[in-house]
Amino acid sequence: MANQNNTNQTRSQLPLDQIPADLVSLADIEHYSTQHLSPGVSAYINGGVADEICLRRNRLQWQCYFIEQRVLADCSAGHTRLELLGQALDHPFVLAPVAHQQLAHPDGEVATAIAAAALGGGMIVSQEADCIYSDVVTATDHLCWLQLYLTSNEQTNLTKAEIAARTGFQALVVTLDAPVNGIRNRLHRSGFQVPVSTNRLSGNGLDERQRKTPEQLAPGSSLVFQQLMTAAPNWQTMAAFVKHCPLPVIAKGVSHPDDAQRLVDLGCQALIMSNHGGRVLDESVTPLHALTRIRKSLAPDIPLLVDGGIRRGADAFIALAAGATAVLVGRPQVHSLAVAGAAGVARMLRILRDELEVTMSLAGCPTLASINSTCIYQSAREQQLC
Ligand code: FNR
Ligand code: LAC
Repeated sequence: MANQNNTNQTRSQLPLDQIPADLVSLADIEHYSTQHLSPGVSAYINGGVADEICLRRNRLQWQCYFIEQRVLADCSAGHTRLELLGQALDHPFVLAPVAHQQLAHPDGEVATAIAAAALGGGMIVSQEADCIYSDVVTATDHLCWLQLYLTSNEQTNLTKAEIAARTGFQALVVTLDAPVNGIRNRLHRSGFQVPVSTNRLSGNGLDERQRKTPEQLAPGSSLVFQQLMTAAPNWQTMAAFVKHCPLPVIAKGVSHPDDAQRLVDLGCQALIMSNHGGRVLDESVTPLHALTRIRKSLAPDIPLLVDGGIRRGADAFIALAAGATAVLVGRPQVHSLAVAGAAGVARMLRILRDELEVTMSLAGCPTLASINSTCIYQSAREQQLC
């Protein structure tokens, strides 16, 4: 099943008519996907960290704002196009890096890339993808970035970057919010073992993050501090990586304004506000709050992306009004893959784009550039809730 390059769905022939007609929202797709995923895989995909407080907050954060409805605005020349780090996109929904997509569908990341390209959108491929990177890159002629986890070894990091550049990725997304995995109790309870990335066996050329057992440690030392955090990158490793990396670097998982400024000073070309879909630190700041703070503190030309619980076009509108340049969508892509492969992901992206266009029209915003902080409003009650 691993590393298939045999998807027979070409971009122009996605069998959209085979998708059940009553799948009209991302919630419908998620609901339907449970029929296609084992309980263990569901726990891995849908679960969050610990008590899943931040998983719930990720959804709730988008309900903390009203959108100002405007009447009689001329949106007849409207569109959702944008440019992100020099690349043209038809809409601002970028597929977030999500590992192990063959758990959801045998065509895995190749199918996801086909769908992203069919809808004129971008994709960030996980370091822990199941498909071979070059097969994924070949499946799209649109924005295709590779997500990496760095280690404390500067040479290993640069080797990864060089492989990525040779493979054809246009930029690297370095995920910084998970130097150690979160305490994923839902996953633990399920007993599901996350597979070793099959790409390692077949030519992607990158090792998975080192996972050591307590038995491999010196007596009395800590698995977290002396093993995982010792193998994790620090500011010095990140600075060396950005300096020597042959591709533009984007930092993912940033929530503190001081970290954001320092990453930009190192040369990062964009930042992603994210709490890893509520999978790492249960008490983390919501990405929307982080976005609002960081947008105020950084130069306005730095592209900021955000993710976490975005399930409606209106959620994306709020993110854009709060200062995002584009948004990432995580779990819905694997729900859609499970339901109908590439056609499912394409349907999901089309739903989001349609919803965003409707929201923009009702808010009197014909273009993404016309969406700004005056388009959303928070009452005192909402401020208390959020
Ligand atoms: C992720 N995410 C993730 N992030 C990353 O940087 N590298 C990765 O390999 C993965 N893998 C991964 C697997 C699964 C199953 C999930 C659900 C998530 C996090 C992902 O990129 C993104 O930040 C969140 O998924 C966004 O939240 P939503 O849209 O899922 O609510
Ligand atoms: C996850 C890792 C792969 O969230 O980032 O499952």
